Amino acid sequence: MGKFVIKNVRPYGEDEVQLLIDGGVIQAIGKDLGLDETDESFEVIDAGGKVLLPGLVDMHVHLREPGREDTETIATGSDAAAKGGFTAVFTMANTSPVIDQPFLADAVWEKGQAYGKCDVYPVGAITQNLEGKQLSEIGLMSQGHVRMFSDDGKCVNDPQVMRRAVEYAKAYDVLLAQHAEDHRMTADAVAHEGETAARLGLGGWPRVAEESVVARDVIMTRDYGGRLHICHASTEGTVELLRWAKGQGINVSAEATPHHLLLTDEKLETYDGVYRVNPPLREQRDTIALRDALLDGTIDVVATDHAPHGSEDKCVEFEHAKPGMLGLETSLPIISQVFVESGLADWRFVAKVMSERPAEILRLADQGRPIAEGEPANLVLVDPGAAWTVEGDKLRSKASNTPYEGTEFATSIALTMLRGEVTYRADETETETTTTSTK
Ligand code: DOR
Ligand code: ZN
Repeated sequence: MGKFVIKNVRPYGEDEVQLLIDGGVIQAIGKDLGLDETDESFEVIDAGGKVLLPGLVDMHVHLREPGREDTETIATGSDAAAKGGFTAVFTMANTSPVIDQPFLADAVWEKGQAYGKCDVYPVGAITQNLEGKQLSEIGLMSQGHVRMFSDDGKCVNDPQVMRRAVEYAKAYDVLLAQHAEDHRMTADAVAHEGETAARLGLGGWPRVAEESVVARDVIMTRDYGGRLHICHASTEGTVELLRWAKGQGINVSAEATPHHLLLTDEKLETYDGVYRVNPPLREQRDTIALRDALLDGTIDVVATDHAPHGSEDKCVEFEHAKPGMLGLETSLPIISQVFVESGLADWRFVAKVMSERPAEILRLADQGRPIAEGEPANLVLVDPGAAWTVEGDKLRSKASNTPYEGTEFATSIALTMLRGEVTYRADETETETTTTSTK
């Protein structure tokens, strides 16, 4: 197992310290640990003032294994996650077959562990085959590695089925994550229902299709208990409902995606399928409401909804494209741009919404921990001064179509560590500048 000293490093972007990592644990932190650098028993990493955060945790990815290994696998998804600074991800159940039985969930977990680049937690389906009718084996799956259940990709629309799911999830003390979409209102929808979709002649997905399900489910949680999580919150109204629910003491958490925090439906003008996603890109007032909600804690976490598709399904006309975008390798640079570089928030905030809160919601004992002596060495070294330009072909993900093709981001990931082992290290040639700012 690796033994490292990281010097000139700024935990949470604050004062420079040295860190000694051994046995997968942070053994010591101090201004000057008085270490003998000629001692070859450890590797010295000179961070040159870079920012250190706890390893990132993503509550919402799609790694497509089993079934669509041509678009992503647990291995390629783990590589993409490590490159994005993640040390744990939760992969959704909408694979083929659907993860609705314990042996399938166990296989996902074990493959992730065998590969070793990232902890890949399986999300169990709420209903068998995501059909929204019969509950899956929630109890049995919760005895294994499943701590979160979701039919994501689809909504549990039937209120009686959802009610039973809420009661089961409460009994087994697991998290229920809802993809809020009343499918009866989105049958022909490919874009946000608004001025842009009307002008482009695209079928509209109204805000109410999301908000009505959020309203129903927070009330169910109020009345029947348990822990509810709202996937990819995308509208101003959802934010208002969450604010109300939290004010009532209802046990609900929520996530926002980097794309809903950054992009709006104005991007659809080109009819380029890379911008198709569920829920759809919305309007500026929604984006602003989501940002404010993340800042004030109404929305708890950032989750990528990393959803790879092959070029035959994305590089096509908008209406024929499959919904979903890559997210793992661009998430931290986007959050840095929107919140840190803009001056809206600091690195402590990023640590909270991308690591500490998701780990807390999912009750991970070894993730999202403080950068302190005795804590597990699940860490990401962030370089706020190493600009890079997104090139889909160079991403670790198996898919290469991305809405950020050609976009320059100021921040990149320099190194990721899982239990004291390096899972990603930037090749200096991948970044355009290697000057480190002291932002
Ligand atoms: O855009 C999306 N893609 N939203 C979802 O809910 C599912 C996902 C996928 O699996 O491709
Ligand atoms: Zn999803």
